[in-house]
Amino acid sequence: MDQDTLKTLVGQAALAYVQPHSVLGVGTGSTVNKFIEALSQAGIPLQGAVSSSEATTRLLLQAGIPVLDSSAVQSLDWYIDGADEIDHQGYMIKGGGAALTREKIVADLAKQFLCIADASKLVDVLGQFPLPVEVVPMASTTVVRRFHALGGQATVRLNKEGQPLVTDNGMHIIDVRGLRITTPQAMEDDVSVWPGVVTVGIFAHHKASVCLLGSPEGVQTLR
Ligand code: 5RP
Repeated sequence: MDQDTLKTLVGQAALAYVQPHSVLGVGTGSTVNKFIEALSQAGIPLQGAVSSSEATTRLLLQAGIPVLDSSAVQSLDWYIDGADEIDHQGYMIKGGGAALTREKIVADLAKQFLCIADASKLVDVLGQFPLPVEVVPMASTTVVRRFHALGGQATVRLNKEGQPLVTDNGMHIIDVRGLRITTPQAMEDDVSVWPGVVTVGIFAHHKASVCLLGSPEGVQTLR
């Protein structure tokens, strides 16, 4: 079974967490795209969704799902999103799709975070996947230097034209390789207060409540 099929399986399995007529928080990425496809095919009526990116908004609207502004919502029961890495405690690295800031904002509105991922994302220690950090462009160099001092190799993410990628929020992304994130909560706290950091892609304070992990043996539920 290839990775794409596993993503389809977990996208479909996530439907079990969707309450008809509810408002759902929806993440970003190829796994979430499978979920939106499954949602659209299942025809479950929703009051709407709060979206974490322009890309997800486009897909939701194409699927006929109303997109609500986050300010119109007091709280959500579920936020459904993928991850670049997840450990056995539910701590995650996110932001491979550059949507980490809005993802954290929508996750913060939700009582529970449902992570949908293929089994390749499960790790013992976070950090094999380069840690994405969204930064104010002016702060890129100082943030890169700070990560170098911690032993990481940090680079500004480039777009297809070789220019710094610009996020939905008009910011840049720094990707940090070579970190072993053994204390995710502490590192999230530390990096979050560096001047110019908008969001660090460690989701420890907003860790997964439940993870649906797709493997060739089927979909496993981790709590
Ligand atoms: C986007 C994210 C995604 O959840 C993460 O990159 C996983 O993506 P995919 O489902 O395509 O593997 O954090 O910013």
